[in-house]
Amino acid sequence: MSADLRGRTVVLGVTGGIAAYKSAELVSRLRKAGAAVRVIMTENAARFVTPLTFETMSNHPVVTDTFERPETWEVAHVALAKAADVFVIAPATANILAKMAAGLADDMLSTTVLATKAPVLVAPAMNTAMWSAPVTQKNCAELLSRGVRFVGPEGGFLACGDTGAGRMSEPEQIFEAIVDILQPRRDLAGVKLLVTAGATREYLDPVRYLSNESSGKMGFAIAEAARDRGAEVVAVAGAVTAPIPEGIRVERVTTTLDLLDTMTRLAPEADVVIQAAAPADYRFAEQYSQKLKKADGVPLTIALTENPDVAAAVARLKRPGQILVGFAAETECLLENAEKKLAKKKLDLIVANDVTAPGAGFNVDTNIATLLSARFGRQDCPLQSKRALAETILDTVLRLRGAE
Ligand code: CTP
Repeated sequence: MSADLRGRTVVLGVTGGIAAYKSAELVSRLRKAGAAVRVIMTENAARFVTPLTFETMSNHPVVTDTFERPETWEVAHVALAKAADVFVIAPATANILAKMAAGLADDMLSTTVLATKAPVLVAPAMNTAMWSAPVTQKNCAELLSRGVRFVGPEGGFLACGDTGAGRMSEPEQIFEAIVDILQPRRDLAGVKLLVTAGATREYLDPVRYLSNESSGKMGFAIAEAARDRGAEVVAVAGAVTAPIPEGIRVERVTTTLDLLDTMTRLAPEADVVIQAAAPADYRFAEQYSQKLKKADGVPLTIALTENPDVAAAVARLKRPGQILVGFAAETECLLENAEKKLAKKKLDLIVANDVTAPGAGFNVDTNIATLLSARFGRQDCPLQSKRALAETILDTVLRLRGAE
């Protein structure tokens, strides 16, 4: 893809790692694509590569902490934080990730990244044991949930002699991740996408209901990603705690029967249907128009009636070329149960998640999932933001459309 980044400013933070030399190539690619690049190096980074290298590549003075000049931070950090269209840290050491997670600002780079409102992309590079250390993973989960994007790290041989995840992604991949941020793809232009989000509620009486923990975050992340990629999006939302995205049509539903009605009306028009909602599987056999009163210690037994399976109903209306995606929220036997749902609900793709895993499932900003389809088999998606997972789901949907 030939990217045109003219008029865009990339602020590149370089921290101390052997991969720092590769970032010089990243600067060169960015400049060839027309971007202005402003480099900030930490004191340790300047031990690996000289600031002169980055000064020459970027054609701008490099801000370093090699000389203690706190007065320059004051002026420069605000200016650079504001100038950035995207803020990239490559390589990003365990140290800078920890500082960012904690909100520390004790040098030029950490001060500037704290002050920026631009999207932040990090390319971690470190020893495998440091990468897999629980505290590093916790810091990354924190950063992901704040919207920081990650590229890599990759597996393979590391400079320290170990094998495993920790190697910085190649400049090419980091460049593409930057382009994705600065020039969102429009590869879903003309596609009508219907997505469900949130929980349904089944009322027993005017004040009590049966529901679940779904927040709508995953469904809305898909809606936003699809909107940004040019799709015409309709979201059908039950009860949600996540903010309603802008720029998309939202239809509200309460019960699973409402959802069924709305989906049977809207699904036939959609090219892609993604069902991320968590409909209540049961409703009360009887509903009361007044608040149910206590019965002085007499145990209460309430009968439930099974709700229809909306996804299966949508599949019965499927038209040729339409792509149907569902989710599988599981607490045990993840893949086995998800495989069964894929077949039973006649889906083209299912996104399986273990809702009990830390950082996955209901009401968090991150997810861990496995994508299963008859066409492409299995694809594991490690801990990532719901937005990043949404992009991967949409990538797979596009591949499925192409394979039709
Ligand atoms: N789903 C649906 N209608 C229902 C229940 C679920 O359309 N009544 C959809 C969900 O939106 C999701 C998929 O089916 O895309 C799987 O939902 P999940 O809750 O994991 O599975 P269930 O079918 O409810 O099965 P179980 O509760 O037995 O695991």
